[in-house]
Amino acid sequence: MTGIHFLPFEKTVKPDGVKNILQLAQEAGLPLQSTCGGKKICGKCKVIVEKSDGPPPQPSDREREVLGGLLDEGYRLACDTILSHGAVIRVPEESRLKRQVILTSDTEHPYPVRLRPNVGHYYLEVPPPVLDSVIADRERLLLALKSTYGIHRPGLDPFVLQKLPDTLRSGRKGITATIWDKREIIDLNAGRQDGLFGMAFDIGTTTVVGYLMDLLTGNKVSVKSTMNPQIAMGDDVITRISFCQEDPDGLEKLRASIVECVNTLIAEASAEAEIDPSHIMEATVVGNTAMHHLFVGLDPQYLSMAPYSPVLQEGQNYKARDLGIKIGASAYIHLLPLKAGFVGSDTIACILATGLHKSKIPTLLIDLGTNGEIVLGNRNRMLCCSTAAGPAFEGGHIRWGMRASAGAIERLKIDPITLDVKWETIYNERPLGLCGSGIISAIAEMIRTGIILEKGNFSEEIQSPRLREGEDGREFVLVWASETATKHDLVITQKDVAELQMAKSAVYAGATLLMEQFGGGQIQRILLAGACGSYIDPLDACTIDLLPACETDEVTGVGNAAGHGSCLALLDKNKRNEAERIAGKTQYQELAAASRFQELFVSSMLFTSALDYQDDF
Ligand code: FES
Repeated sequence: MTGIHFLPFEKTVKPDGVKNILQLAQEAGLPLQSTCGGKKICGKCKVIVEKSDGPPPQPSDREREVLGGLLDEGYRLACDTILSHGAVIRVPEESRLKRQVILTSDTEHPYPVRLRPNVGHYYLEVPPPVLDSVIADRERLLLALKSTYGIHRPGLDPFVLQKLPDTLRSGRKGITATIWDKREIIDLNAGRQDGLFGMAFDIGTTTVVGYLMDLLTGNKVSVKSTMNPQIAMGDDVITRISFCQEDPDGLEKLRASIVECVNTLIAEASAEAEIDPSHIMEATVVGNTAMHHLFVGLDPQYLSMAPYSPVLQEGQNYKARDLGIKIGASAYIHLLPLKAGFVGSDTIACILATGLHKSKIPTLLIDLGTNGEIVLGNRNRMLCCSTAAGPAFEGGHIRWGMRASAGAIERLKIDPITLDVKWETIYNERPLGLCGSGIISAIAEMIRTGIILEKGNFSEEIQSPRLREGEDGREFVLVWASETATKHDLVITQKDVAELQMAKSAVYAGATLLMEQFGGGQIQRILLAGACGSYIDPLDACTIDLLPACETDEVTGVGNAAGHGSCLALLDKNKRNEAERIAGKTQYQELAAASRFQELFVSSMLFTSALDYQDDF
C-alpha cells in the first residue's frame, strides 16, 4: 500500500507522519464526524484500521478509555492516531456525517406582514444633455429623481456611476434606478426593470438556511439549506473559536467556508427560481454571535472569555461584495443586532417572528441547542439568558447520540409490560443512533415505564434482558444489534441519563431564574424554537422536567423562528428598527454571575415526575 486508503469512499491520501487520520480525512473532504473538533473528547471519530503496512502506534490512554473492547476489533480514534505508513481505514457507518434534517419551515407570523422592502425600483425619464447648458449625467439623474419621487440626492455606488453614461444613452425611453434605503442608487438599467429579489439567511452553528424572496410580491420563491461547512473545523462555537486562536489563518478559513456555503445557497436558489443572482439586491442575516463574527471576519476570541463581550451589538450594513457574497454588484447585506456574547441576532429574530415582544401574556421562548437561549417576557418587559446546556440535545456526549440525520431515532415507545421498544427513525432507515428528540423521548419513556427513577438511577427491581450491566454501568437496550445499522446494541446508559440531567437542569434552572426575576406568577405560553425544540413532544419535555411550571397544552413548537425573523426583516425594513428596540429593551442575565442559578441547577437535577409513574409499577 502506498497511501492511506479510506473505505467505503475509495479515496487514497498520503500519510505524512504528522497529521492525524481525522485531519487527513477532512482535507480529503470525507464525511467523518468530529463533534469535539478533534479534541479527543467526543469519541465520534471512530475508524477501523483494517490493514496496515506497519504496526499502528500504541493506543493512547484516551483511546483506551473511549474505545475499551473496540480496540481489539481494530477501532481507533481518528483524531488521536497518526500513521506514517500505508493503511486501509474504514469509516464505519456510525462515524459518517449524514444528511442532516434541516428545519426550513416556519410558523405563521401572528401579525400581518407589511411589504416594505428596503430596496425599490424607481422608473424615471431623464432629459438628454443639450449643447447650450452642460449638466452632467449624474446631476440630471438626481434632478429627475427629485422631481419624480421627491428623493433628495441619494449617493451612487461607484459601479453604478460607471454604467450611468451608457444606461442613459441606451436609446430606451426611461431607466430604472434601484435604490437602497432611499439613500443610495445601487443599480441602473435601461427601460422598465422587473424582478427584484432578496435573500434572508439563518446561519446556525450546524445548519444554514437561505430563503429567496420576491421583494415585489413578498412571496417565498425558493428555500435552500445545507450543513454549515465550518463543522469540519469544530462542531460547536467554542471549538471554532479555539480553532481561530490556534491557527493563525483560522478566522479566514472559517470565514471563507461560510462565504462559500452562502454563495452555494444563493446559486442553488437562483437556479431553482430561474433568476439571475445579480437581481438579488439585498440580503438579511441572523445567527448566534459567534456565527455573526465569523461571517464578517470579526475576531471571536473574546466571546469565550468572561465577560463574553461581542465586538459590536447594533445591526450592521455591509456591501455584499466586501464580504465576497455573490448577489447584485452593489447590493447590501443587513445583519440584525446582537444582544450578548451568547445571545445573538437569531434570538432577536425569534422574538420578532413569534411576536413575544407584543404579547399580553407572559411567554417563555426556548431555543434548544448546545447553548439554550431563553427569553421570558411580554410586551412590557423581556429577560433573556443563555445556558450552557452542553451537547446532549444535539446528540453529543451520549453513547449512541447523533445529529438529526438519516437513521437517527427521533421518537420511541416502550411497552410498559414487556418493555419492548417501537421506534421511528429519520427517513425510515435502520437505527444508527438517537438525535436530540429521540434521546428525550427515550428517557421520558423510561421514566414513564419505571425504568428510570427520580434521581436518574435505573430501577433495580425490574427484571428484563434489556436492563443489564454494561461498560459504563447499568444500561437499557433500546434496539438489539440484529436490527441496527451498526450491528451493535443501541443502548441508553446511566452516563447518558446523567448527561441529559445536566442539560435539562441547565435549561430548567435558567428559565426558573428568569421567572423569579420576572415575578408576576404563572407562564401562560411556552414556545420551543429550533430543530430540536420543534420536534420534541411536549409530553416528553414535561416528563423529563425540561420546562418549569409545565402544562403540555401550553407548549408549542415554533419551527425555524430565527429564519422567519430574518425573512421579516428583509420584507419590511421597519422590522429592523423593531429588532433594535427588542435588543435594547431585553435585559440580559449572565448566569455565570448568578449564584442563584447554581442553586437552581443542582436542585433541578431530579426527574420529579418519576414519582407519579412509580406508583403504577
Ligand atoms: S474524539 Fe475525535 S473528534 Fe472528538
